[in-house]
Amino acid sequence: MGKQLATEMAPPFNLVAHYMIAGAFFYIVTSFVLPFYADELGGYFVSSTIASLSHLYLLGFVMMIIFGAMYQLVPVILEIPLFSKDFAYIQFYLYLIGLSLMSYAFAHEKFLFLLPYGSLLVYISMLIFTVNIFLTYRNIENWSISAKYIFVSNIFLFIAVSFGVVAAFNLFYGFLDVDILRIVSAHMAGVLIGYVMMTIMGVSLILIPMFSLSHGFDEKPIERGFYFVSIGVVLYMIGALKELFWIEAIGVLGMLISLGLFAYQMWLIFSTRIRKQNDFWAKNMMASFAFFIVSIVIFLFSYLFGLSNLGMFGGYLFFFGFLATMIIGHIYKILPFLVWYQRYSPLVGKQKVPMLNDMVVERVADWQFWITFAGTIVSAFGILFTSGVLFIAGTVVMALSAFLVLYNIYYTLAYRK
Ligand code: HEM
Repeated sequence: MGKQLATEMAPPFNLVAHYMIAGAFFYIVTSFVLPFYADELGGYFVSSTIASLSHLYLLGFVMMIIFGAMYQLVPVILEIPLFSKDFAYIQFYLYLIGLSLMSYAFAHEKFLFLLPYGSLLVYISMLIFTVNIFLTYRNIENWSISAKYIFVSNIFLFIAVSFGVVAAFNLFYGFLDVDILRIVSAHMAGVLIGYVMMTIMGVSLILIPMFSLSHGFDEKPIERGFYFVSIGVVLYMIGALKELFWIEAIGVLGMLISLGLFAYQMWLIFSTRIRKQNDFWAKNMMASFAFFIVSIVIFLFSYLFGLSNLGMFGGYLFFFGFLATMIIGHIYKILPFLVWYQRYSPLVGKQKVPMLNDMVVERVADWQFWITFAGTIVSAFGILFTSGVLFIAGTVVMALSAFLVLYNIYYTLAYRK
């Protein structure tokens, strides 16, 4: 196949915009329901109530944005067009309905009967996604390290959501005679580390150098990280399912080493950056990696000493500190690029076209960054000290700052020079 310009193979703007707008919508919804979870402080992490929040946030916001970004980036990374755009639209609507049913059913015991239906819709939509990605891979010529990460992460997604469906059916029908926590542990490791983290690791190697203008850095840490994380997730899943503590612990070690190598790789990239200016993107990235390192260290302590409150604190910093900051920082870059490419790229050379940074209100993005940052720290301390007041104060501040994200998304989408 003759090499086309990578961006020419990207899917239509309309498709990616579906996922980005829905992701922003669920970000706002999660921000508004978060303060109402103050009663769960000090309780169990694995519970239907927490599952309603974690799935609303992870499936509605995190995965929605990841899916949209993958449809844009996979053709660029693999240098081949997506197998089917129709699949991607079908996936979107099934996913939207399924995840809404699932989160609602988790939150309301009376509606638990909706859980199997919602789960099945989400499961089918994810199967469509993974099949679409695998069929896209069949013409691949260049197995770059990012391509390897994305491929393996999709295998983990398929396996881990299969565990999720089994756990969901069991919650309603109660047909399994085993400790369901073991299946849920394998599910969590598979989706969070196997899919979300592996995708971020693979894609970061493309996006972070591109936006920070870094090159000439060593890629060995992320290459080694690939083997540690893949083997780590497999061992953890086997250990968790078979109740083999040592296998599970070796799996945790493998995952931790890979996350450490990822942090080191990001440091290598950032230290060779040419663009030294700390704009809203760079601030978001630095904060997100700080949250990442702190949450992993806290998680390690909680695992070693069995401190569940500390685990919830680390998990919160990982979800609402690391993931949210990383994603919002990239929305401010990716969305303007998509709008620019669709609206202004045909005009290049014919008339003056805007710069990408003109399409975001920098002052609003800056305010949003600091307000969200402060809200996240305060609410996280609310979890650590089991203080409802701190948690509510921090999450209300976060909810208000979510409007600033929404404002910038609207500004970018409506931008006309
Ligand atoms: C078809 C898709 C999925 C189904 C059916 C599903 C189902 C479940 C079920 C039944 C539980 C246990 C809840 C409980 O014990 O009350 C659970 C836990 C969990 N799942 Fe999923 N899940 C799915 C996808 C995902 C994805 C994609 C993610 C992350 C990106 C995720 C993250 C989690 C987390 C963090 C937990 C543990 C915390 C908690 O109980 O809230 N799940 N899932």
